[in-house]
Amino acid sequence: MNKINTAVFPVAGLGTRFLPATKANPKEMLPIVDKPLIQYAVEEAYEAGIRHMVFVTGRNKRSIEDHFDTAYELESELEANGKTAMLELVRSLAPADMDCTYVRQARALGLGHAVLCAEHLTNGEPFAVLLADDLMQGEAGGPNVLKQMVQAYERLGNSVIAVQEVPLDHVKRYGIVAGVADGERLLKVQHIVEKPSPEKAPSRLAVAGRYILSHAVFGHIRKQGKGAGGELQLTDGIAGLLADEAVHAYTYLGKRYDCGSKEGFLEATIELALQHPEVGESFRSYLKSLQL
Ligand code: G1P
Repeated sequence: MNKINTAVFPVAGLGTRFLPATKANPKEMLPIVDKPLIQYAVEEAYEAGIRHMVFVTGRNKRSIEDHFDTAYELESELEANGKTAMLELVRSLAPADMDCTYVRQARALGLGHAVLCAEHLTNGEPFAVLLADDLMQGEAGGPNVLKQMVQAYERLGNSVIAVQEVPLDHVKRYGIVAGVADGERLLKVQHIVEKPSPEKAPSRLAVAGRYILSHAVFGHIRKQGKGAGGELQLTDGIAGLLADEAVHAYTYLGKRYDCGSKEGFLEATIELALQHPEVGESFRSYLKSLQL
């Protein structure tokens, strides 16, 4: 079985829900406390053993490339001033054994199309997809969500997608799966549909932004037509895969923050600030002092 070597990060979206903050800055660079969203996702992939990061970018995304590149001037300045801890922090963003590749998605044709732009960089192997909008935290002391999925993939040998249960009135925001129980926290997927109405949803199990996908998915995306919202959907590519191969849905251990929405972004900010080693304690006292 192939090891998972490559992670694809679709980051070409316009981020209109966060205007005006995203007028000139990519939404993936918005920070939760002191780290941009994209960094949380890249660290998750790195911790899961992945070393090749592929970013599917678009216009206005240059700062993502800079973020994972060597910052020569900053580093020599910090070095000259003896700011060793900060220097190490800056250098840790681009570990020597991590490779970053950037490919442009020239037109916003959907998530399926974005992933297809990375096909030639995935070496014919299964690969991971991480949506940085979904900030995922594993359980305290346990493996992160993608690592859990890699472990499931290593047992099963086929595609694995992360799912969580959502309220019925939220199903129209997600890819929704249904299937039969097949091991702990696992379902063998029989149906998957993008953004169904509550009446048409086959379940309340929603796809979270983490996938491990067989290379065959590309063939299906290439063949399929436009799906929900007039876009080329990754979900439809996975639906195509179901005819030929097993796909498992994995109910992850941990928590997802929907940082594509203002509420989710604020929840992540508050909860991660409370966990932060530097500011957590004083921030907790501050929150307690508020007359809410
Ligand atoms: C995308 C996927 C959807 C998935 C969701 C998770 O939707 O198309 O299937 O459930 O991410 O966040 P988007 O949030 O881009 O509309």
